[in-house]
Amino acid sequence: MAIIYNTEHRTITLHTGRTTYQMQIDPNGHLLHLYYGARVPDTSLAYLYVLTDCGFSPNSYESRYRRDISLDILPQEYSSCNTGDYRLPALDLSADNGAWGTDLRYVSHDILPGKYHLPGLPASFGSESEAETLSVLLKDEATGTEVTLLYGVFEDADMITRAAMIRNAGSRTIRLEKASSLCLDVPFGQWDLLHFHGRHCMERMPERQRLIHGIQTVSSRRGASSHHQNPFVVLMDHAATETSGVCLGAMLAYSGSHRTDIELDQTGLVRIVSGINEDTFAWELAPGETFSAPEVLLCWTDQGLGDISHHYHRFLLNHMIRSKLVNRCPILINTWEAMMFDFTAERLMHFAQDAAELGIGMLVLDDGWFGNRNSDNSGLGDWTVNTSKLPGGLLEIANGVHALGMKFGLWIEPEMVNEDSDLYRAHPDWALSVPGRKPSMGRNQLVLDMGRCEVVDALFEMLSTLISQNGIDYIKWDMNRNMTDIYSHALPEERQPEASHRYILGVYDLMDRLTTAFPEVLFEGCAGGGGRFDAGMLYYTPQIWCSDDTDAIERLTIQMGTSVGYPIATVGAHVSICPNQQTGRTVPFGTRALTAMSGTFGYELDPAHLTEEEKSQVKGQIERFKKLRELIGTGRYHRLSDFNCEQDVVAWEFSKEDGSQALLNLVVTHPRANGHGSHVKLRGLCSDAVYRIAEAVFEGRQIVLESTSLSETLLEDRRFSGASLMQAGFTLPPLLGDYPSVQLLFERVDEVLECVR
Ligand code: DGJ
Repeated sequence: MAIIYNTEHRTITLHTGRTTYQMQIDPNGHLLHLYYGARVPDTSLAYLYVLTDCGFSPNSYESRYRRDISLDILPQEYSSCNTGDYRLPALDLSADNGAWGTDLRYVSHDILPGKYHLPGLPASFGSESEAETLSVLLKDEATGTEVTLLYGVFEDADMITRAAMIRNAGSRTIRLEKASSLCLDVPFGQWDLLHFHGRHCMERMPERQRLIHGIQTVSSRRGASSHHQNPFVVLMDHAATETSGVCLGAMLAYSGSHRTDIELDQTGLVRIVSGINEDTFAWELAPGETFSAPEVLLCWTDQGLGDISHHYHRFLLNHMIRSKLVNRCPILINTWEAMMFDFTAERLMHFAQDAAELGIGMLVLDDGWFGNRNSDNSGLGDWTVNTSKLPGGLLEIANGVHALGMKFGLWIEPEMVNEDSDLYRAHPDWALSVPGRKPSMGRNQLVLDMGRCEVVDALFEMLSTLISQNGIDYIKWDMNRNMTDIYSHALPEERQPEASHRYILGVYDLMDRLTTAFPEVLFEGCAGGGGRFDAGMLYYTPQIWCSDDTDAIERLTIQMGTSVGYPIATVGAHVSICPNQQTGRTVPFGTRALTAMSGTFGYELDPAHLTEEEKSQVKGQIERFKKLRELIGTGRYHRLSDFNCEQDVVAWEFSKEDGSQALLNLVVTHPRANGHGSHVKLRGLCSDAVYRIAEAVFEGRQIVLESTSLSETLLEDRRFSGASLMQAGFTLPPLLGDYPSVQLLFERVDEVLECVR
């Protein structure tokens, strides 16, 4: 039993394999948070809270003679508003008499087998043997508002999910001003905040800083989870590292404007409140209506950040991504960087032919194939083929590509429209725009009002026809601007603040309908690269294009930042030409491939421009990735160097769960003269097992010192104990030149190592 109610103490305890989470209903009916941390057996941890007179912190009416009991001091499970807790509220609403705030009190709770669902929203799933649900009903008497707090407890996966449903059980309409998914109070500890900021072509840069008193915010108001701040934060104990120490992750499964506030209060308690960004949100709730707030995935460990990553990777792969096609994407070649808008049927077929000869498994026709699309100024919205470029239609191309033994993929951007399109000419009111104001343009396009059913229905019609009639095996779903001029021509004025969230619900609805109708089609998410890389999207698309920056060295940091929360098998990564189109940098071909292999692996170049030497390298890379993809996609991932990639060497590793194989990847970003070589300590091996290097791939020059060269080590067919590789480590000879790299595959051998006694 993962969820236990204790009647004596009125505590509800959730246990996962290694953690315990506990709450308590106090005598006034307030739901207090008692604990989230290492697994403990106690039925009540209320003894942790020593009550003292709390100065300027008010007392509930029932406790007016007890100055030591205040909502402003005690940890809360889902904080109220305007009723004595001055810290971050989880829920704020206004009633039709203008009164605002909430006073939530416990009514009842239920413990149910299996995992709850959230209507219209992505949410993790788990069978009755994998998960249990706790639902706790709270009520605000003054307005009749009922809040159901939902907890999904995954015992084996060591993960707890949170969500909230808010129902108007009163007789008058209320207006939700803020409806958070999570309020989590962390009463004790010394914490750093790790979050992921960035911009287009520089997504998910990890930043770790000490919490200071007051509120720190991680948010987006862009209508997308954004390139700029990812909806994922980790509290790390000051002393926590990759391999040790307490870390607590909170990942919001939502793809729109989000907000996570982290408050360090007067007593040293940290409150995390996370959910839809209230800056661009309000929601009218008529009597009887329910609003669902999206899900947050919580993970606690005392084994460092690497273990947090490991848990999120496993959990997202097993309990969030619905598609069976995760880690199954054929090695693809994408036309974008090679041709942009400039292609013909003939050029495409040559491209496909050249790619097929190299062993590439899928051609993806990117932007430019539809409507009047010869630049990014027109065509979006018209999802029928551009016959001046492709006179025989898409099916002719798909058939040609299939005849070469490859799959055929296609790019779309359904949520957008150009003014210069038949769709916009027919339905100008389908675009978000404020009456009387010229809208802001992004890439000269407008955002469709995805909150309107007729828009979603029309897109479903167009896109399902497109997919079913043209032999499409894969869809790249792009989204190339953020939301402005948020105004829906279908909503009354008082409901305009709903438009932004309704948009995301419409996107989810369309994705749900298309992925359900075409389960054999692999959908890859994209938003100008990684502008919507979040757990919500992964529910529908099992992989996401990680960044429009394809420079392998920039990708090291982008992919490492992404790896903290998201599985490697979901990270869209391609080899592109040099000098790189975004940075002008030249990186060796092998290093580009090694970086792209820590992702879905594909190419973004014209094979006709490759030298014979490069072509033969491509064939080798493809063979190699096919052999390694299971280990890369399902193995345990380890960041061996600093996650900001600020050291001279960037190293990471994949190890098999049973310790039988490990793949070490290393890129030298800053070669040093007279250096000692690069030293790394491997992880995830069996200490007492024996390993050999089964394969080594070098890119770049290496200094071969006679007695210590790696080549010689390999020649000697050396054996290493797992203990040595992990504790003493492994030293590679100095690698010189521009961005050299090494990939080493360690394999366990069935031998006994001679030990020094
Ligand atoms: C942005 C994407 O991230 C690129 O890969 C490419 O598909 C372009 N859009 C096409 O417009």
